Amino acid sequence: MSTDDLRRRIEYFKDLGVKELYKREPSGGPEPAAAEPIANVVEATPAAPSAPRIELPSLAPSGDTLVQISADIGECTRCVLHKGRNKIVFGDGNPNAQLLFVGEGPGADEDASGIPFVGRAGQLLTQMIEGTAKKEGIPLTRADVYIANVVKCRPPENRTPEADEMAICGQFLFRQLQVIRPKAICALGSTAAKALLGGKDGVTRLRGSWHKWNDIPLIVTYHPSYLLRAYNVEAKREAWEDLKKVLHFVYD
Ligand code: URA
Ligand code: SF4
Repeated sequence: MSTDDLRRRIEYFKDLGVKELYKREPSGGPEPAAAEPIANVVEATPAAPSAPRIELPSLAPSGDTLVQISADIGECTRCVLHKGRNKIVFGDGNPNAQLLFVGEGPGADEDASGIPFVGRAGQLLTQMIEGTAKKEGIPLTRADVYIANVVKCRPPENRTPEADEMAICGQFLFRQLQVIRPKAICALGSTAAKALLGGKDGVTRLRGSWHKWNDIPLIVTYHPSYLLRAYNVEAKREAWEDLKKVLHFVYD
């Protein structure tokens, strides 16, 4: 990785509120506690003595693959979300997908099955992808796209992932995005949008125009869980518009 890439990566962590980055030692090396900080992201904010040391995954290696990422995740305990999980939900779909959806994190059904978006919200997402494609004359099923989440373990009570959890687990998502290199990314909901765009804006502000994640065009739309609430008729219509737009961009 070039110095510029590293600098950008550090800036990104800083935006997410991560204070220090640690280089992971190769296995067999010293314990993470002995690892040297590679950067002090925020100056003069010493961690509380009781703060747990966070072990970050290694930065994206060249020649990375989905198999390698999955192996690096292993039986991950890098953030507290590991405590309540049953299965790590890595991602699902076509590894050569041209369109990649990013959700927030696994729910109960995903935690039980290990597959993203299989519960009620997942069924709606599948319907939306396949229904919109069909209506627009684009031959596409869920199996043609790739679906992943910002965090790979289920947050307790389905709470929103914390900034540190997003920063740590987000590195695996970024590696997935870099390996798959889709033609476009669709961020589902504010958590995915924040993780990928780094800002604080939510869906209402971000939807309706194109953004970029590392040069890959990105669109933000409502999370399907939000659309499941009956009063969101207008949001539903907008989500269908967003989906139509991204499908035509990718598959025309
Ligand atoms: N919600 C998400 O954000 N992701 C899933 O995988 C399921 C529900
Ligand atoms: Fe590891 Fe991600 Fe699970 Fe946290 S959420 S334990 S970083 S796989």
